[in-house]
This record gives sequence, C-alpha cells and structure tokens, in this order.
Amino acid sequence: MATKIISGTEIAKQIREELKTEVAEMKEKHGVTPGLVTVLVGESPASVSYVTAKQRTAHDLGFHSVQDNQPEDITEDDLVALIEKYNQDPAIHGILVQLPLPRHIEESRIIFAIDPDKDVDGFHPVNVGKMVIGEQCFLPCTPAGIMEMIIRTGIETSGAEAVIVGRSNIVGKPMANLMLQKREGGNATVTLCHTRTKDMAFHTRRADILIVAAGRPKVVTADMVKEGVAVIDVGVNRIGKTPEGKAILCGDVDFEAVKEKASAITPVPGGVGPMTITMLMKNTVQAARQISGIA
Ligand code: GUN
Repeated sequence: MATKIISGTEIAKQIREELKTEVAEMKEKHGVTPGLVTVLVGESPASVSYVTAKQRTAHDLGFHSVQDNQPEDITEDDLVALIEKYNQDPAIHGILVQLPLPRHIEESRIIFAIDPDKDVDGFHPVNVGKMVIGEQCFLPCTPAGIMEMIIRTGIETSGAEAVIVGRSNIVGKPMANLMLQKREGGNATVTLCHTRTKDMAFHTRRADILIVAAGRPKVVTADMVKEGVAVIDVGVNRIGKTPEGKAILCGDVDFEAVKEKASAITPVPGGVGPMTITMLMKNTVQAARQISGIA
C-alpha cells in the first residue's frame, strides 16, 4: 500500500493563501488590521525559534505584529501587568505568551490574565470550557491544526479508534476532546494514553488514527502500530546539530519504519508544526473580526 505523506507545509500554505485574501479584504473594506503580540520570556532556543516563525508568518499575512521579549527574571506581577496592557490595546486582537515559562512564574496565573476574547492560543479556561461543550471558541492551535489536516486529507474519523499519546493541556487533552465531539473530524472512539499507561503498545496497536505527543524521540516504533494506521506526529525533538549549527529534528514516531505500515503519516519537520502556526493566524483573524464586529 502506498503511504500518503501528509504535508503540513502544503496544507498550511493553502490556508495561509485563504487568510491572506481575508486579511486584505478586512483592511480594505473595514479598515481593520489583525494585530498579534507574541510575548517571549527568556531565551530558550526552542521558544525563540517558535516565536520567530509565528512573527514571520504574521508579518507575511499583513498583520500588525509585535514581538515582546522579556527577561528571564521578569516577575509574575510585571508579566500580568504587561498582559493587562495588551488586553486594553485596541490594535492588538491576539495575545500569545510562549510556554513554558520560567519556574518562578505560575503559568495558570498568566493564562488566566489574558482576555478570553484575545486568547488566540485557546488556553484560557473560558475557551477550554466552551471547547469541551462544543461552543464556538478559540481552539488550541495544535489540536485545531491536526483536525484540519485530518479533514483535508480525508481520513475517516467517524467510528474510528483514535489513540492519543500524551495528556498535556496544550495537545493531548484538547485533542481527545475534539475527536470525540459530534462534528466533522470527530465521532471517534478515543483512548488517551500517558506515562502511567500500563501497556502502551496494546492501545497503539488498536489505533486506526494514532496521534503522538509524548515529547520523547521515536517512542512509537513499527511493532507498536497496525497496518493501515494514519499517524500524526506532534513531536519536535532536537537530536543534534548540523555542521552549520542548524538543529536536527525528529518526531516522537520512528518515521522511516512506521511509514512502511501506515496508510498516512506526517513528517517532522513539515507536518504538524506549520499547521499550528497557521491556526494561530486563523484564530487571530477570528479575534480581529469578533472584536471589530465584522461578521
Ligand atoms: N509552547 C508549545 N506549544 C505552544 C503553543 O501552542 N502556544 C504557546 N503559547 N506556547 C507553546
């Protein structure tokens, strides 16, 4: 069976073209430019590279984009005050605080400080709650991007066994939730595995759709999947550097071996990553529309 390599890069490109047209129209017809601020605390290389990619995309789409770098030792109170400033700023429609934050800052306090109407990450409890009950809201970008990939690739989810590895608030929990909802890309029977799962392979071998966000390189091997599975690999692991100093990346799935059994699989890089960024842009356009009262 020929394996389909699901190119997040290609799907993201299509969506960005759609967004570019939408942004141009918003500017022309309504005088509204979507505004996104990305707040980066400290200088972790992974976070710097994610935030740079987000800003570059926002700029390419014609957004008003602000990169706000804060020192590693910023206090929690000062960070909350900064968010409150952006909550009040009419030129900013979306606020993203790159995670993880340094240990002395309680992430939940920062996330709760973001105005839910500007919470383009979909991490505020108001948006999380709305997502769980299927109300219109900002969906977290990685799960939203995965749903979009699954739908646009034509992977059948209704009645499928969907197995998710990883229970983070950013990926695993919302992913499980979206896949079991009565909606396009949903209606799956969902199993959520995590570090305390007794026999991971027992579950992954049953999967028609396997979504892996374990945060460890190549934890899913070929013996852990069945023939014909569709695999979405959320992992981005830095496993070394090229002689030029560029990071060498690999996913949480042993791509070369697993692709021999899979019907479809996402690569790393070029899979989920570009989709996550694109969904952030989509959420920001949605925020700008809602805040500006554009239907
Ligand atoms: N760190 C890893 N993924 C994400 C994300 O989707 N949003 C934010 N804010 N931080 C992250």
